[in-house]
Amino acid sequence: MQLFLDTASVNEIRTMWEVGILDGVTTNPTLVAKEGRRFEELLREICALGVPSVSAEVVATDTEGMLSEGRRLREIHPAIYVKVPMTPAGLRATRTLAKEGTRVNMTLVFSANQALLAAKVGAAYVSPFIGRLDDQGQDGMNLVRDIVTIYRNYRFPTRVLVASVRHPVHVLDAAKAGADIATMPFAVMEKLAQHPLTDLGLARFLKDWEKVPKG
Ligand code: G3P
Repeated sequence: MQLFLDTASVNEIRTMWEVGILDGVTTNPTLVAKEGRRFEELLREICALGVPSVSAEVVATDTEGMLSEGRRLREIHPAIYVKVPMTPAGLRATRTLAKEGTRVNMTLVFSANQALLAAKVGAAYVSPFIGRLDDQGQDGMNLVRDIVTIYRNYRFPTRVLVASVRHPVHVLDAAKAGADIATMPFAVMEKLAQHPLTDLGLARFLKDWEKVPKG
């Protein structure tokens, strides 16, 4: 399974890229706004790090506007995936962009039928937002399982990108469900490597090492 960072922070991306566990980055308008920087300049800097997949979202709500933004975004760097919202206008834009060879990440997906449509119009990624479903009292991971089943039934090549990840159990469950990708905040990715028994074990080993005769 691929692990993506859900951030627009160049420092966060650089840190995980240097650790060597990062497969991609997803941004959205909220994350970009937090950085207080011009969108295209920020995208160029992220892509220059060498990350192979960087999702950048359109903000137009009509098909023509989405197409024009999407075409402009894809020209920024070969790593760019154009993020398009799951609306009728978004489906039309995705179909055209996909035919032109642009890789589209269909976002704001909250039902399996929406995911079915995303696959039918040729999206490269589908992004179910599981944390936001959990917030509503629905089990977001059930949606991921349904999408994985449907895509396998019909051999759709669209990859399932689990978004709105809030904690390490979401990542674990996404992996068990057979999702292709999980995108997560920096703090969640950090936690994937951590375990108190690892820290305790290391402290004990180092303490015992002091007793080994040196020289
Ligand atoms: O990038 C989209 C998604 O991951 C947003 O997550 O935590 O705002 O629901 P969240």
